[in-house]
Amino acid sequence: MSTPASRTAPLTRAEVMALVAADLIKVEKAIELDTVCSVEAVTAISHHLQSSGGKRLRPVLVLLIARALGSTDDSAIRLGAVTEIVHTATLVHDDVIDEATVRRGKPSTNQRWGNQASVLAGDWLYMQAFHLTLQERQFRLLDLLIELTQTMVEGELMQSELVGRVDVSEQEYLELVHRKTACLFSVCARFGALAAGADEELENRCGDYGWNLGMAFQLTDDLLDFYATEEALGKPVANDLREGKVTLPLILALNSCSAEEREQVATVIRDGGYQGTPASNIAALLDRYGSAEAVQRRAADYIETAVEALGPLAETPHKRALISIADWIVDRQV
Ligand code: IPE
Ligand code: IPE
Ligand code: MG
Ligand code: MG
Repeated sequence: MSTPASRTAPLTRAEVMALVAADLIKVEKAIELDTVCSVEAVTAISHHLQSSGGKRLRPVLVLLIARALGSTDDSAIRLGAVTEIVHTATLVHDDVIDEATVRRGKPSTNQRWGNQASVLAGDWLYMQAFHLTLQERQFRLLDLLIELTQTMVEGELMQSELVGRVDVSEQEYLELVHRKTACLFSVCARFGALAAGADEELENRCGDYGWNLGMAFQLTDDLLDFYATEEALGKPVANDLREGKVTLPLILALNSCSAEEREQVATVIRDGGYQGTPASNIAALLDRYGSAEAVQRRAADYIETAVEALGPLAETPHKRALISIADWIVDRQV
C-alpha cells in the first residue's frame, strides 16, 4: 500500500517533469525522426501536431513507470515515442470522424489538409508506431499494440452507434471510456513495465494503475467539456453534446430529471447546437442534480484504485511522481 507520507506530500508538476525532462527531449527527437516520410503531407501533418503542444502524458507515464522499476536504457524512450505516435494517429482519425475544426488550439489536420490526407496520414502514423515497436524484438509489445489498436478502432465504431442517442446507459458510456482512453493508458504503463523487464504480475499491476488513471482522466475530460474554457483546453467546450455525445455528467442528471429537462437535452442533440436550448440551461441542469460532484467522486475512486495498484513498488521519486499525477488528473483544469 502507498504510505500516507507519499499521499500527503505530492510532487509539484515542475518536480515531476524535471524527473523525466532529459528523457522527454529524447522522446521528442525520436518522434521527429520517425515521422519523416518521403511524401511531404505526412511529414507536414506530423510536424504540425508535434509543434502544437499537447501534454505528452502518455510518454511521461511510460518513462516514469520504466524508471520507477529501475530501467536505465533507451527502450522506454522508444516506447514513449510509440505511445505518443499512436495517440496522435487516434486524434487525427477522431477529428475526421467528429468533423472537428480545432485541436490543441490550432486548426485540426482535417481542417487544414482535408479528410483524405488526414486518414492516410493517421494510417501511416499507426504503421510507424508498429515499425518502431518491432525494433524492440519483443512479441508481448506487439501483442499489446495490436489489441490496443483494435480496441480503440472498435471504440470509435461503437461511439458512432451511440452518437445522437439521449438514452446512453452508464454501462455503454464506461465501455466507451475504456476503449477510447483507459486501454491506451494501460498499455503505456505496461510498456514502461516491459521496458524494465517486469514479470507478468508486475506488468498487470502497472496496467491496473494505467487503466484506472485513464478512466479518471476521461471522466474528468468529459466534465471539463462542460466547465472549462476553450482557451485552456485547446478545443471547443460544450462540444460533446453538440456532437451528439451524452457523457457521464449528463447521464447522471438524465437519470433523475423531468421529461421537460430531458427534452431540452434532446433538442441540443437534434439541432447539433445550442440554438434551441442555451448551453447555460444544460449547465444549470448539471448543477441541479449535483452531476459534477458525482463525477468527481467516481474519478476519485478510480484514482484511489490506481494508487493502490502501485503499493508494492519501491519508494522512489518516480513512484511519488506517479502518485502525484494521479492526484492532478482529477484536479486538472486542462
Ligand atoms: C485527448 O487527450 C483525447 C482524450 C483522451 C480526451 P489529451 O488531453 O491527453 O490530449 P493532448 O495530447 O494533451 O492534446
Ligand atoms: C477522443 O475522443 C479520441 C480518442 C481518444 C480516440 P473524443 O472525440 O471524445 O475526444 P476529443 O473531445 O475529440 O478530444
Ligand atoms: Mg473528438
Ligand atoms: Mg471529448
